[in-house]
Amino acid sequence: MFSYTAEGMEYCLKCIECGREYSREDMYTCECGGLLEVLIKETKLSFKLDGNLKGVWKYKSLLPVKIEPVTLREGNTPLYRCKKIEDMLNVKVEVYVKHEGANPSGSFKDRGMTVGVTKAIELGKSAVACASTGNTSASMAMYAAKAGIKAYVLLPAGKVALGKVAQALMHGAKVIGIRGNFDQALKIVREVCRTEGFYLLNSVNPFRLEGQKTIAFEIADEIGVPDRIILPVGNAGNISAIYKGFKELVRFGLTDKIPKMTGIQAKGANPVFKAVKEGRDDIEAVKNPETVATAIRIGQPVNAKKAIRAIYESEGTAEEVSDDEIINAQKILASMEGIGVEPASAASIAGLIKLAEKDEIERGERIVCITTGHLLKDPETVIRVCGKPIEVDASVDAVKAVL
Ligand SMILES: Cc1ncc(COP(=O)(O)O)c(C=O)c1O
Ligand SMILES: [Zn+2]
Repeated sequence: MFSYTAEGMEYCLKCIECGREYSREDMYTCECGGLLEVLIKETKLSFKLDGNLKGVWKYKSLLPVKIEPVTLREGNTPLYRCKKIEDMLNVKVEVYVKHEGANPSGSFKDRGMTVGVTKAIELGKSAVACASTGNTSASMAMYAAKAGIKAYVLLPAGKVALGKVAQALMHGAKVIGIRGNFDQALKIVREVCRTEGFYLLNSVNPFRLEGQKTIAFEIADEIGVPDRIILPVGNAGNISAIYKGFKELVRFGLTDKIPKMTGIQAKGANPVFKAVKEGRDDIEAVKNPETVATAIRIGQPVNAKKAIRAIYESEGTAEEVSDDEIINAQKILASMEGIGVEPASAASIAGLIKLAEKDEIERGERIVCITTGHLLKDPETVIRVCGKPIEVDASVDAVKAVL
């Protein structure tokens, strides 16, 4: 009775704390304050895991929307085997990178936004809003433009990579920089959404995570279920979403195991790492988060409880990496494997290297690292760490002199 039907699918929103189920869809958290997640009760599966990737909407029968999607052909991102990185490690494992930077706006957020903006339209909303460390705003602005609705974005002023701000502006969002950090921006935008009726598209919105769980579907579709997933953790939505995706595949009889969910945070923004290290179920906020990986510069991740559960239930782990380790991993990926990612994404490789050094990776593991955003998102950091190009006179001799 508490459920909707979308093409033979029955689902509801369920609180992860008190278990209460809701038939309403236009809400983000339970009346008890707990996080909500979409519970798919029944569906008729319309796809097979046959290696034929077609993007997010291949998995429509596990995506809770009832109208034609607002899509820019997101998903179907490349999965690369990285043998040079394998050779670098002190333990023999298989390493793959799923490069989410190959999505239309250059980050994994597009998977969540195609579902989230479709839900906004379905609910009759004429404006969407988010707080963002950058990628969410770029993606939301792009899908709002496609859907023809208004987009409002709150950013921590001066702390968002240039490429992302440029995208949000060009796609026509109203971009507002606040003199504060992401956590403060999120608090403000939640209140503004409540009073103005805007649809909130941060990852506290359970429909965002429904789109993002397709990362799990695509990996399982292409190579089967790996032993471990390693990914950067900021607001902790993506790790929760991917775990949910793998769990659904098991529940609907398509696979039979769950990978160890392994979350990597920057040292200066590490509340999930600290909670897991101390065996706690919830985080203590980091007051002034700081890291070169601005995408994950978050001190109070809203989905922390979901993420920590995902880590414990899957027998995964969490790790922290320094800014130097992040930049080193970014350079390794770009120069040895030809994969250009932004700093936050490189945290996954930095985490892999660190866990291998600490003997926390088992021999023979098949590991997929998620690189969440494209190199071009943050050109300023690249110039800072690689230096500017050499400039010479316009002559053959001058060029030869610097070869
Ligand atoms: C490039 C990149 N990586 C990782 C993350 C963290 O994802 P989540 O907030 O879902 O943990 C973000 C979030 O903004 C991001 O933009
Ligand atoms: Zn509740």
